[in-house]
Amino acid sequence: MFGISANQPSAAPTVTRLARYTKADLEEILGTGDDPFGVAGTGLTWLPKEDHFGVRLDGRLVAHAGLLRMPVAIGDVETEVMGVGGVAVAPDVRGRGLARLVLAAALDHARTQGPEHALLFCRPPLVPLYQRLGWHPLDTEVLVEQPGSALVTMPLRTMVTPLHDTARLPAGRVRLYSLPM
Ligand SMILES: CC(C)(COP(=O)(O)OP(=O)(O)OC[C@H]1O[C@@H](n2cnc3c(N)ncnc32)[C@H](O)[C@@H]1OP(=O)(O)O)[C@@H](O)C(=O)NCCC(=O)NCCS
Repeated sequence: MFGISANQPSAAPTVTRLARYTKADLEEILGTGDDPFGVAGTGLTWLPKEDHFGVRLDGRLVAHAGLLRMPVAIGDVETEVMGVGGVAVAPDVRGRGLARLVLAAALDHARTQGPEHALLFCRPPLVPLYQRLGWHPLDTEVLVEQPGSALVTMPLRTMVTPLHDTARLPAGRVRLYSLPM
């Protein structure tokens, strides 16, 4: 949808919309470790994403970003955001702009979906990287659902980016009506 995959070593990497994104796909990018995103310590249960964007180099999947439209309350406002998750780049090709590339394609698609903002959760060391990509840390409390109807405060950093020029984020606490993405 966003171009064809690079299939020659010299070709510039391009992003494709992936028909599916399986555990094997994730392992192709990040390997078979049991905590590829370094968030297992939170003990949180996460939602799979709905739409998937990927970069292939020489036929190998090396980068991914996922999207999921989510109902939320921000302060008194009931709305929706585009959740972004599963951002991953293979260790041997990091630092070459592939996260920037795959996120840009995911956000291009997110802009067609209606919600005014995209939201993601990350470990504190990644805040400067996402800021560099145009995201801002949220300093309000963010509540997310967990199995068994528990409502918990998100222990990771929440990052937000507008999807439209006119987007204005309501003030107040954020409450996801779902597991986090
Ligand atoms: C986080 C991750 C996706 C980054 O992938 P990447 O391909 O190396 O990122 P990019 O090369 O696209 O870098 C994105 C931008 O952040 C910048 N950047 C990188 N590290 C930075 C830092 N510590 N501080 C500020 N900016 C930083 C880069 O310079 C680049 O900006 P530029 O294009 O203007 O130069 C990758 O390290 C990864 O997969 N980690 C493991 C999984 C994970 O933790 N995913 C995040 C889930 S929230």
